[in-house]
Amino acid sequence: MSSELVQVTDLERNYKRGKFKIAALNAIDLTVKKGEIVGIVGPSGSGKTTLLNVIGGLGKPTGGHIAVDGEDLSELADKDLTHFRLHKVGFIFQFYNLISTLSAIENVEVPMTLAGVPKPEREKRARELLAIVGMEQRMNHLPSQLSGGEQQRVAVARALANRPPIILGDEPTGDLDSKSAKKLMELIRNLRKDTKTTFILVTHDPIVVEGCDRVYSIRDGKITKEFTQTDINHFKMSQGKDSLEELLV
Ligand SMILES: Nc1ncnc2c1ncn2[C@@H]1O[C@H](COP(=O)(O)OP(=O)(O)OP(=O)(O)O)[C@@H](O)[C@H]1O
Ligand SMILES: [Mg+2]
Repeated sequence: MSSELVQVTDLERNYKRGKFKIAALNAIDLTVKKGEIVGIVGPSGSGKTTLLNVIGGLGKPTGGHIAVDGEDLSELADKDLTHFRLHKVGFIFQFYNLISTLSAIENVEVPMTLAGVPKPEREKRARELLAIVGMEQRMNHLPSQLSGGEQQRVAVARALANRPPIILGDEPTGDLDSKSAKKLMELIRNLRKDTKTTFILVTHDPIVVEGCDRVYSIRDGKITKEFTQTDINHFKMSQGKDSLEELLV
């Protein structure tokens, strides 16, 4: 098998709005290797969330191909797509999306419950995951009793629950102060090192960009630039001089 975990070829995603067709994604080609941390940047409305959702099996492409971990998503039947979403991808969102009536540990158990993992096993794994993200002391707290950074670490533990090879983040630091954002990026880099999990992170945040191995810039549904590690290092060195907007968009 090739080392490419995600292969997107000539991807197109249209939305219909009344009589009009909106081309949210247009001729997108990209690849992500196992264990990479890849960023996606671009202005509002450029198609970042649409792209992430298509990779995560939440929206079907209207053209082109997308393969994740050897599965061609356009060929999967609905029931296989449900299995794909449960086992192949984990999601983290800007506003954490934890269930407010469930404790931290219960939130982490949710994907395992859906996958049919028996209670003792899912409790054990949820505890282990909360320890990995540094939240084991707070496992019985409700989301409202946790800070934003703490809630996002619980959301990362939840995303890891069924051991997906890939985690997709839509503005994961968008609601965090810079200290919590740095801590989250550190956690993501450690997870990549320890578990070889692959991350694709949509972001506007320089802290996230600095922690990526590669970054794609998209505009009007098309990839306009690809930034390598060298470009990202240059960006790091020039902090304060080059703004993210000047450099990436
Ligand atoms: N469900 C939908 N129905 C119709 N049009 C949509 C839908 N979702 C997104 N769009 C349109 O597709 C385009 C891309 O939207 P998308 O949400 O992917 O952008 P984005 O880059 O994530 O923006 P932001 O940075 O504001 O989150 C926009 O023009 C948007 O209006
Ligand atoms: Mg978006």
